[in-house]
Amino acid sequence: MKTCIIYHSYSGITRGIAEKIQAAIGGDLIEVKPRRPYTTLTAYSLGCIRARGEEAEPIEPATIDVAPYDLIVIGTPVWAWKTTPATNAAVNALQNSAGKKAVVFATCGSQAGEAIPIMKRGLEIKGVTVVGEEVFSRKEVADDQKIAGLIHAVTTAGSA
Ligand SMILES: Cc1cc2nc3c(=O)[nH]c(=O)nc-3n(C[C@H](O)[C@H](O)[C@H](O)COP(=O)(O)O)c2cc1C
Repeated sequence: MKTCIIYHSYSGITRGIAEKIQAAIGGDLIEVKPRRPYTTLTAYSLGCIRARGEEAEPIEPATIDVAPYDLIVIGTPVWAWKTTPATNAAVNALQNSAGKKAVVFATCGSQAGEAIPIMKRGLEIKGVTVVGEEVFSRKEVADDQKIAGLIHAVTTAGSA
């Protein structure tokens, strides 16, 4: 089973979980970054407006070819109870994704809102079936048992 772990992370928390998944199961880490980086001010103003509108924005890398992978893992921070514009762009950027499986996760302060359903809808449009999902609140990002649960979901999804 070959897995890619795609994530956007503004302040490092989602990256931390993505790295733990990679340390446990291997696979390729693919970080997507907005082409125009946010500041704290623009993240909470422009970023949240874009997130609320479920917009995508230009990212690097601009395309993500998942042909070599059996399983896609996608992690997003929650902005304004939604996925980030960079995560929306990452989903749109997937190439050769039809028929693949995915596990999605979101990290948030306390309320993930619609983040998981938005990722699911976007992935469905790309022909991807979501077979596992997890949300980590700020209190849970250091919860090793919860992270182990996500890793288990990834392992199980890949071997199903
Ligand atoms: C612009 C912005 C908007 C946010 N909106 C929410 C929100 O609606 N709900 C929530 O629970 N946390 C919210 N947060 C907190 C982040 O989702 C949380 O800290 C997340 O774990 C950050 O992940 P990262 O370090 O990978 O960027 C927001 C943070 C930022 C910077």
